[in-house]
Amino acid sequence: MPIVLASTRGPDGATNLAPYSLCFPHVTGEGHAMVLVMKSTSKTAQNLIRTGLVTINFIPDEVALLENVKLLSRTVPTAEKMAQSVFTLVPSDRDVGDGARAPDLVAESIQVFECRLLSSEADTGDDEDELRFILAVERIRMQPRWHAALEAGRGCPRLPVDYGFKKASDSWLSRPRVAVSGPRLRPRFEITVQRPPEDVAEAFTEALERADAPVVGARLGEHVQLSLPEDRRTTWSPHLDLRLEDLGDGGTRIRGRIGPHPHIWTLFTALHLAVAFTAIGGLMWGLSQMMANESAWALWSVPIALFLHAFIAGAAFIGQGLGADQTYQLRTFLDDVLEV
Ligand SMILES: Cc1cc2nc3c(=O)[nH]c(=O)nc-3n(C[C@H](O)[C@H](O)[C@H](O)COP(=O)(O)O)c2cc1C
Repeated sequence: MPIVLASTRGPDGATNLAPYSLCFPHVTGEGHAMVLVMKSTSKTAQNLIRTGLVTINFIPDEVALLENVKLLSRTVPTAEKMAQSVFTLVPSDRDVGDGARAPDLVAESIQVFECRLLSSEADTGDDEDELRFILAVERIRMQPRWHAALEAGRGCPRLPVDYGFKKASDSWLSRPRVAVSGPRLRPRFEITVQRPPEDVAEAFTEALERADAPVVGARLGEHVQLSLPEDRRTTWSPHLDLRLEDLGDGGTRIRGRIGPHPHIWTLFTALHLAVAFTAIGGLMWGLSQMMANESAWALWSVPIALFLHAFIAGAAFIGQGLGADQTYQLRTFLDDVLEV
């Protein structure tokens, strides 16, 4: 199911945004239509019944936006909820007649369906409170970039998909797994595409130069490095190292390695080395203490060092978990560029 933001106008004219998933195309035989299923008590349903208008905003799959979606699903008054919204509202220039104003659009949307209510009926499911609204899609607006992609038949946006919402606050996002192999501290992966390396490298340069690029990076010959912009970078933010290999048949193999930022990785390596050298020093000292028939307390450095190694590795794994969402962002950027 999709995750869309329905925008409607309240009795005071203020825009109300709320997330919905039971939103599907509906075949009427006349024009484009959608079906939206929702609780009759929701503000969206009430506003839709009163004004006959709703705008369906298809937002992109971005972690920060989806976190905010959760807040917009709270059953609190519109003003309280909208004060926490991170979405940018833009007025619609659609003439809806009767001097009424169409609901605002969400600027971050990939596409927007401006709809008018055709009919509503009680849902036949178990929940008696639910209404099924049939909507005529009067206008579709799409970001120029995605319109061009649609026309060219190349590339497609990443839309959030869930497979169930239980309560207003609980839902399950469907996300592809990133298949990786090798030592887990810096997992590796490989992707093969049927495009020459120059083409792939050019696609990276173009994507990184775009004003709305969600990641930053650099390309040096066959190497590409990707990371999060500085204002979103934390200690555990991931860094993606890519090497483009010419397969000689017009294809390219992309070898990738996900790890912490090189500075953090250097720090981790330095810590491991420092602990290892201390342990070796302690071992030698302890052995000489034994030979001199003294108490070999320096040998304690060996188990302590093993514990510290495990602790540092553990911290790295915890960091990997904390950076999982950002790893997903880097990986989806990569997939978008490679069109895989
Ligand atoms: C991802 C997600 C999907 C949702 N989908 C629906 C839905 O399809 N139908 C529904 O009645 N409520 C759905 N909800 C719950 C509504 O968003 C919630 O009841 C909200 O309070 C309605 O806000 P409103 O009163 O401003 O319309 C969903 C919530 C989330 C987080």
